[in-house]
Amino acid sequence: MSKVQAAITAVNGYVPEYVLTNKELESIVETTDEWITSRTGIKERRILKGEGLGTSDMAVHAVNGLLKKRGISAEDIELIIFCTTTPDMQFPASANILADKIGAVNAWGYDLQAACSGFIFGLATASQFIETGKHKNVLVIGGDKMSSIINYEDRTTCIIFGDGCGAVLLEANEEGNGIIDSLLHTDGSGRNHLNMKAGGSVNPASHETIDNHEHFVHQEGQAVFKFAVTNMANVAAEIMERNQLSSDDITWLVPHQANKRIIDATANRMGIGTEKVMINIEKYGNTTNGTIPLCLWEWESQLKKGDTLILAAFGGGFTWGSIYLKWAY
Ligand code: UT7
Repeated sequence: MSKVQAAITAVNGYVPEYVLTNKELESIVETTDEWITSRTGIKERRILKGEGLGTSDMAVHAVNGLLKKRGISAEDIELIIFCTTTPDMQFPASANILADKIGAVNAWGYDLQAACSGFIFGLATASQFIETGKHKNVLVIGGDKMSSIINYEDRTTCIIFGDGCGAVLLEANEEGNGIIDSLLHTDGSGRNHLNMKAGGSVNPASHETIDNHEHFVHQEGQAVFKFAVTNMANVAAEIMERNQLSSDDITWLVPHQANKRIIDATANRMGIGTEKVMINIEKYGNTTNGTIPLCLWEWESQLKKGDTLILAAFGGGFTWGSIYLKWAY
């Protein structure tokens, strides 16, 4: 019997309508379109506006479209892994909230927190439930409403992040396509360089934490950049090496979209040209868990059965990882 692999069989995405341009940011903080473009590659990002809307509301759009594309109903979903750093609430999990909103009454689910590497960690985790035969239809969501934890007075972070959400469906594949390998890392000693200082059990919300702006993303940009550029490139090169893949074997690199310079360094280390790299950072900025599924969504029409994809990400934690998969449709 041939090996069962977990394959992506549908993908969909959602980005909110509101476009926050570099030009508009120039009127909010002391920055320039030129600085943002040259240092990050970002031109604009999307912002979810509207009272009472959270990350799960973007996921509802992404998932409803995905189910329609695949021609299955929400009742067919058995497991939902919701990768997010900005859940609707501290608890219950956004996976539960989403299941209720879409009518996935037969599913169980949970949230997965691995900052910008979340979607890769989620795919690797979800694939186990398919490979073992435990579940048939598994949803992996990657999405964030980063605008809910960004200080729009901090020019070093507000220019980077945006809101958006992507979703994939995983099903069993016995044709040799699907997720073939994953390489995942965490190093908690990096936690001080990129975090949200308050709102957790160590430093619960108080008047003081609000006054000190501690419910926002804190990022030491240069330190994070140094680790990101090295580790994302290394992990992508390592997964190629251990699967005996040359640069010619790679159809697409699907990198986390944190900074165009980090993406270029990763492609360079893998020996592949920009024509093989999915890049949409100029339109959406860094949507944290959303970047990779949003790329897959945007490039879906160009993907062919059997294409070799390398996914790679680096994020707060620190967390980083890579996935080698063969496109299944
Ligand atoms: O996704 C998860 C992981 N996150 C990342 O991978 C992000 C990694 N880090 C980065 O992408 C970059 O470090 C940033 C884009 C955040 C910053 O770029 P940088 O080239 O590392 O800039 P820098 O922090 O070294 O700052 C250089 C200068 C500073 O001025 P001085 O001290 O040289 O006078 C900053 O104050 O640029 C200044 N600066 C800005 N100037 C205009 C910082 N932010 C801005 C801004 N506009 N928005």
